[in-house]
Amino acid sequence: MVSQLSESTALFSTDVSTDCLAQRLDDYRAVIASPPVDIVDPTTLNHQELAKLRERVAVANFAHYRCAQAVNDTAVLALCHQVGLKNLHQSVVTAGLTKIEVSPGSKARYIPYTNSELNWHTDGYYYPETYPVRAMLLHCVRPALEGGATELINHEIVYALLAQTNPDYVAALSQADVMTIPANSQAPDGPRQAQSGPVFWQDPGRIYMRYTTRRHNIQWRQDPLSHEAVEALAEILRQRTDLVFHRQLGPSEGVLSNNTPHRREPFQDSTERGRGRLFYRGRFHDNIRIP
Ligand SMILES: [Fe+2]
Repeated sequence: MVSQLSESTALFSTDVSTDCLAQRLDDYRAVIASPPVDIVDPTTLNHQELAKLRERVAVANFAHYRCAQAVNDTAVLALCHQVGLKNLHQSVVTAGLTKIEVSPGSKARYIPYTNSELNWHTDGYYYPETYPVRAMLLHCVRPALEGGATELINHEIVYALLAQTNPDYVAALSQADVMTIPANSQAPDGPRQAQSGPVFWQDPGRIYMRYTTRRHNIQWRQDPLSHEAVEALAEILRQRTDLVFHRQLGPSEGVLSNNTPHRREPFQDSTERGRGRLFYRGRFHDNIRIP
């Protein structure tokens, strides 16, 4: 096991030198402090808009945009297509973008459809890494009356910080059975089988992450190093607020992301019918690729 861990760590060790990381953190902080990329017409992005989105995604793995006017879900999907997101995940119960709003009835058992906090997670962490959600979109149609801010963090930065703390931690979290999500026959997207997989894995030049901070219904590998690594990762997410993009997304604003960890603050909705917080969510099996 030790030699396997060392081998796996070596794959990632090239870009976590202290100087290189310090520069990356500076660039990243500048991006998350920037105003959104203004978009005139999401169905036809111009060169300048594409260039800005490309720049943001290269540094942060996500980009915050703001459309000049209210747009429908078809226009939002057209925006996604232009940044390479074409392979939308279609669950057995939804087609197109999913509306995320406070819902009565059976959906209310699931936190996204309540006004509660959603803690750090990547989308579709319960899918196998052989068919992962590689990117996701959140688009605000109506914000909450109060609260409900959106937060994101670049998982490649998280990875680099964790590797700097202890390279064996990233190796431990790259084990194929480090995180298991039990089967769920009642899942809102349709029944699913138990899934074991790594937190981190890679394609050439790219790191992926599959993660949730929720504690119940998650089985972590039961060995001391895996346990320490999970704690160290949670600590980074708790402590490094300087590296967290935090915004109250307004109407027609959204984020395009290479499925980086994200969270949502709790919120209060308007009591008026049809005035509650409404977001579109898209999950894609493509990475963001901007020409
Ligand atoms: Fe999510």
